[in-house]
Amino acid sequence: MKKVVAIIGSLRKDSIHRQIFDHYKNLAKEQFELIEGEIKDFPLYSQDYTEFPSSVNLLGSQLEQASGVIFFTPEYNYSIPGGLKNALDWLSRLENKPLDSLAASIIGASPGKVGTARMQYHLRQVGVFLNLNFMNRPEVMISESFEKIKDGKIQDEATVKFLEKHAQSFQAFLN
Ligand SMILES: Cc1cc2nc3c(=O)[nH]c(=O)nc-3n(C[C@H](O)[C@H](O)[C@H](O)COP(=O)(O)O)c2cc1C
Repeated sequence: MKKVVAIIGSLRKDSIHRQIFDHYKNLAKEQFELIEGEIKDFPLYSQDYTEFPSSVNLLGSQLEQASGVIFFTPEYNYSIPGGLKNALDWLSRLENKPLDSLAASIIGASPGKVGTARMQYHLRQVGVFLNLNFMNRPEVMISESFEKIKDGKIQDEATVKFLEKHAQSFQAFLN
């Protein structure tokens, strides 16, 4: 079975995106194995570093062995959360370029109506330089997240069905 790395763009423990990841991991289990890639221990990137921290090397090797990556991430101030952008900056400097040509997708949820769309197009733009291979459709932009996701569960049946469809599409997209 193919492996896919999940990178969660929110670092807080009660993150809605972590709850979506937990649910998605289970609903996609027939399609691929989803493993979490941790970014919380990445230091702030500086070109002064002469070697890579172990947290960066670990995620780099998980990505290298994976067939794809899914970003479960909120929108912060209309863009990519700083922790996630920092992680991408680190990963982009690894010699083996683990993100190059890797199949990628984004799952985002927000309390408002726009469902992280602005962040998603910024992330796709960064993916051009990284040569990430983003799946165009389906786009997963979950609106009104606090009504749909409660007590660690996705309560909204339409959202669950849509995520199932996403998992099938991403499986077909992996090569
Ligand atoms: C620093 C910060 C900036 C935010 N900016 C946005 C934003 O631009 N658009 C939006 O829809 N929600 C924004 N939010 C609200 C988040 O969408 C909401 O808190 C979300 O649940 C965060 O994801 P998490 O639950 O996985 O941590 C922001 C939240 C924080 C903490």
